[in-house]
Amino acid sequence: MAEFGNPEIVEEEVDILLIGGGMACCGAAYEAVRWNEKVGLNIKMVDKAAVDRSGAVAQGLSAINTYIGTEQDPADYARMVSNDLMGITRDDLAYDVGRNVDDSVFLFEEWGLPIWKTLDDGSRVDGSKWEAQGGKLLKDGGMPVRSGKWQIMINGESYKWIVAEAAKKALGSDNIQERVFIVKLVNDKNDPKRIAGAIGFSTRDDKIFVYKFKACLLAAGGCVNIFRPRSVGEGTGRAWYPVWNSGSTYAMAAEAGAELTMMENRFVPARFKDGYGPVGAWFLLFKAKATNAFGEVYMDTNKEMLNDYPPYGQAAVPASCLRNHLMMKEMREGRGPIYMDTPTALGKLAETLTPKEIKHLEAEAWEDFLDMCIGQAGVWAGENIEPEKTPSELMPTEPYLLGSHSGCCGIWVSGPDDVGAPESWNWGYRSMTTISGLFTAGDGVGASGHKFSSGSHAEGRLAARAMIKYCMDNKDLKPELDTPVEDLVAEIYQPVKTFLEFKDYSTAIDVNPNYITPRMLQFRLQKIMDEYVAGVATMYQTNAKMLDVAEHKLGMLKEDAMKMRAKDLHELLRAWENYHRILTAEAHMQHIKFREESRYPGFYYRMDFNVVDEENWKCFVNSTYDKTTQKWNCFKVEHVDIVDKTKLFK
Ligand code: FAD
Ligand code: ADX
Repeated sequence: MAEFGNPEIVEEEVDILLIGGGMACCGAAYEAVRWNEKVGLNIKMVDKAAVDRSGAVAQGLSAINTYIGTEQDPADYARMVSNDLMGITRDDLAYDVGRNVDDSVFLFEEWGLPIWKTLDDGSRVDGSKWEAQGGKLLKDGGMPVRSGKWQIMINGESYKWIVAEAAKKALGSDNIQERVFIVKLVNDKNDPKRIAGAIGFSTRDDKIFVYKFKACLLAAGGCVNIFRPRSVGEGTGRAWYPVWNSGSTYAMAAEAGAELTMMENRFVPARFKDGYGPVGAWFLLFKAKATNAFGEVYMDTNKEMLNDYPPYGQAAVPASCLRNHLMMKEMREGRGPIYMDTPTALGKLAETLTPKEIKHLEAEAWEDFLDMCIGQAGVWAGENIEPEKTPSELMPTEPYLLGSHSGCCGIWVSGPDDVGAPESWNWGYRSMTTISGLFTAGDGVGASGHKFSSGSHAEGRLAARAMIKYCMDNKDLKPELDTPVEDLVAEIYQPVKTFLEFKDYSTAIDVNPNYITPRMLQFRLQKIMDEYVAGVATMYQTNAKMLDVAEHKLGMLKEDAMKMRAKDLHELLRAWENYHRILTAEAHMQHIKFREESRYPGFYYRMDFNVVDEENWKCFVNSTYDKTTQKWNCFKVEHVDIVDKTKLFK
């Protein structure tokens, strides 16, 4: 075997490359193959991990958070998305997801995902028993168990396996490359506004993969671990967002020249403390209330604060950030900890239930964690918490960047052409970015949000159809990389070279003036973001001066990133993840600096502009990155409402 550091180079040409094996890419794989039957394109999927358990759904989920059903319509959905994201979303994209999402849910059920059912007599059945008791498939008119208005309950520990299996079956295992981390997209030699390829490395073997293609779906999830997490020391490694999505989507798109949008947006989930367990089922299904340390329900006692944020504060369900805003007042003024009052909620439900039903309810409470966040069940077991007796602490987490959950940062894409959107929002192919041939979906698509697992799958399918059309319209296109393969390889393996060159300079492998370990670099990034860009250290507050400091420090960090070492493939992965994180962090910081208001109180506060300024800032903020000068350019883009929003506030 050759010595580590001399990678074998594998070059491949395909028509369509799917980057990421998460919900969006699995949806795209399934859909592309359906449409490809008569077309015969060459389609490949590449994932840094194993598709069966990769991405945000890896651990499983206990609810599908977007299902429109018969009770509401896609316009209601677009309205909810807009309200939860303080009015600045693209109705065309949300509406499009809304009118397509249920079809993905029907598929999940057909593929074997157990979806809870409400029977005709109003009783509900979970697991796989509903059919025997008279329940029907959703597509045949079966009624789900709604936890909230949009969410339906599932037994979803194996959700990702099921969705991955369908994608794998469609594509065939020869067309799936697992454990390859894509580092860079490569533009076309003949047209810098077109994409031509991508390069990545195997996380298992000393191998580099160079792909050329006509079109690619960049759907590598959102970004975690750019902020110092609350879990440090013994808890390092725990986070709410899956630790393996490191901003690759945003960083690679930005470097390829694609326009980003709303990168100032972030999500700060209020979750069960330390285990980051989900709260949705507790709030929505079990109807639990969150309280301060004295048992006061802050959503009631602090209700007046919502009047500071018209019209979003007046909606039937106030935006996620505003719910945090009301909670944080309690924390700041010394009335913490915050609790989820699980005993009262379970007690109330028990009033109308039989003992058998109560046992089942308690089992559901545990299963909610066991299905999707086993660590939280571990915290309960470890701390002797019996939810029917003991309330559990809640905590706002460190910020995450994502575009498919309760956040809307991402890439600016072409939308549908049949919903009355401004012409400038459509340039031919649904989900194509401002770079020809480069598509995105799920967490990648900005200015929408609340797609969740089902909507991301549906959006991947929309992108797949558009990519097939794009390839058919560009049959004669011959992609040519704008950079020689040797240069790309040298760049990707630079951290390995740095290590091999300097490793003997000192006696301790981690202490060396010639290189920095990826782990230490990540700590530096997290410290900067935490202390200057509104992390938990400042209770999510920042101002222009702090952002100036952050800009300076991030610039130096980016320079030092060139000195990261990789002593093995694992560190090479960590090194490039960090590089993607730095670019994502820069975009976030630049956008926050540009938007001179506090659009998302409870997610972050610009203390020098601590208001929502509808007159000047009811607009998108978009940006581009110039990889040659390494400079960001932020600018305003007009916002237009397509769906009537007044309905929310009646
Ligand atoms: P993902 O599904 O995360 O997939 C990203 C993929 O990209 C992964 O396969 C990853 O391995 C791969 N990847 C990353 N970087 C690279 C790279 N550089 N090269 C190659 N591959 C790469 N939705 C619900 O409906 N119900 C819920 O209860 C729910 N709970 C959630 C809980 C949490 C903690 C989170 C984070 C999300 C939850 N969601 C839920 C939302 C849902 O999981 C996401 O909306 C959905 O997974 C997004 O799909 P995606 O394809 O964009 O990203
Ligand atoms: S998870 O993503 O971490 O698993 P969780 O189970 O908490 O999510 O549920 C998230 C879903 O519940 C989202 O659809 C979110 O909008 C909704 N949700 C959570 N809390 C509330 C609340 N207090 N009011 C309304 N909706 C809520």
